Amino acid sequence: RNLPAEPEAPAGTLGALRAEAAVCTRCPLHANATQTVFGEGPRDAEVMFVGEQPGDQEDISGRPFVGPAGRLLDQVISEAGIDRSRLYVTNAVKHFKYEPRGKRRIHQKPDMGEVTHCRWWLNLEMTLVKPKLVVAMGATALAALADVKQPLQNIRGQAMAIDAGRTLFVTVHPSYLLRIPDERLKAEELARFRDDMLKIQRLMA
Ligand code: URA
Repeated sequence: RNLPAEPEAPAGTLGALRAEAAVCTRCPLHANATQTVFGEGPRDAEVMFVGEQPGDQEDISGRPFVGPAGRLLDQVISEAGIDRSRLYVTNAVKHFKYEPRGKRRIHQKPDMGEVTHCRWWLNLEMTLVKPKLVVAMGATALAALADVKQPLQNIRGQAMAIDAGRTLFVTVHPSYLLRIPDERLKAEELARFRDDMLKIQRLMA
């Protein structure tokens, strides 16, 4: 039986890029992941948020930042007056890297080789979306986006010019906030993250 062909996204569009990334085998991470989790958001978004890699729930749903870290991010950005639907949200690495432990899948940090391979997609997303402001959430996103030698904590909360007309803003990853065991430290770090989101909101205004 001849089924009608899937309509193909025109070459050079985000849809075409997403389709190419869906069958990516550039690094071994594709083998154990459910699917590629590509970026999401308007093609002409002025702001791009970059995380590390999809987590368990993102791997299953195929969408970035829909699990616990995504819920925290959604809450803090909406309190800061940022509308997620205006953002292009993506990750430095597009497959979930994990270690099976019983029924659970434990997140493993991607290594620099994986980040470098996957930068191919991130660079293409940047070329198509052309964001004016790029937000690196955490050290993996920072390493993928810029050749910065300083520790993240020294440059977080600051807007830096990276190339022609593009600003990089560095902050922590929301998963880091979720993992802080000490309640007082967690509240302090959450307050700093909220401040960072307010700064981003002002940069967007
Ligand atoms: N953490 C990330 O870095 N990205 C996601 O999409 C989810 C959790």
